[in-house]
Amino acid sequence: MPVLTTRLTRLLGIRHPILLAGMAGGPTTPELVGAVSGAGALGVFGVAGMTTDAVHDAVARARELADGAPVGVNVLISPAVPRPGADSRRMDDLLAPLRAELGLPHPAPSAHTPATPVQLVQAGLDAGAAVVATGLGDPAPVAGLARDAGVPLIAMVSTVEEAVLVVESGADVVVAQGGEAGGHRSNFLVQPDGPVPLVGTMALVRQVVRAVDVPVVAAGGIMDGAGMAAALALGASGVQLGTALLVASEAGVPASWRDRVRTARDDETIVTRALSGRPARGLPNVLIGQLDVPGAMGWPQQNAATSDVRRAAAAADRSELMSLWAGQAAALAGPDRPAAEIIAQFIAGALDTIADISALQSD
Ligand SMILES: Cc1cc2nc3c(=O)[nH]c(=O)nc-3n(C[C@H](O)[C@H](O)[C@H](O)COP(=O)(O)O)c2cc1C
Repeated sequence: MPVLTTRLTRLLGIRHPILLAGMAGGPTTPELVGAVSGAGALGVFGVAGMTTDAVHDAVARARELADGAPVGVNVLISPAVPRPGADSRRMDDLLAPLRAELGLPHPAPSAHTPATPVQLVQAGLDAGAAVVATGLGDPAPVAGLARDAGVPLIAMVSTVEEAVLVVESGADVVVAQGGEAGGHRSNFLVQPDGPVPLVGTMALVRQVVRAVDVPVVAAGGIMDGAGMAAALALGASGVQLGTALLVASEAGVPASWRDRVRTARDDETIVTRALSGRPARGLPNVLIGQLDVPGAMGWPQQNAATSDVRRAAAAADRSELMSLWAGQAAALAGPDRPAAEIIAQFIAGALDTIADISALQSD
């Protein structure tokens, strides 16, 4: 089968111009990362919130499964976003009955100090990661590590201004994250409250391509080969997939979350600060309804305060109490199937779309 060769595939040494979004908190398992890389795309591990030992083991395992193909690690670099009126006692009171329902101790035992992005990236590189990726902020703190290790640095942005900034900070690839995208918004400057800037993928990718010289990867709402062809037509050198790979058989995504993704309406996802203190796009549920109240804290406090509930709910497959991050085009996800099949469908679909569009030409 023909392949699509771009600046991205050449830079990263991969066969297909597709990146798995590092999806921290469960979805990116070693099996998923290994399967995506093994299929010729780039598997990226979302390691935010993990211990450095866990990162080392997970990356090493993913590399074994990838059969020699490169794998990457993704960290979240966000400044703290304090919110006026934050009330940790009110949050505790709201979380108490949910913890009881899930059989969790209350208050939650105090968590260990989380590893920093620099420590997480170092652990990934020690285990042989061949790419470093960042989201939510300026990648400068980890740029030196990537450079010293001789691996490409990929940074996700949500505005043209951020795209220019990350290239100045050393990014070799820019991921342009449109407003359709599932998960946390990559806006660097986040207001504690008020409207969230949501530049759409089509508008953003085209402007970022014009603003920077490095390869640009499109992210947000890309769910099949037609979406991928559209991104390439805008000048992107590849696509980054989050929601489309939530239904991969190897993803660490409970069945009830997969079902919500498949049955989502186009207008159903919301952007909320309720679960982490930073804006993120996902499907509404009971947990968001209960925590989206005055007193909710900012990043990272709210994220830490709710993490035991969300983790336990995911383990118990209770979709009403977990984080259901998903993008606006979620309903296009299709049935559960192996990641390699999804990647192959993307490439075949993109090639078909490009041929269909070429066939429109007439004299
Ligand atoms: C469940 C989920 C978790 C995510 N976690 C991360 C993360 O840890 N790091 C990151 O840079 N981006 C994360 N993202 C955002 C993706 O990088 C990407 O921007 C987004 O998935 C693209 O839109 P799509 O979901 O429509 O494909 C996450 C997205 C989802 C859906």
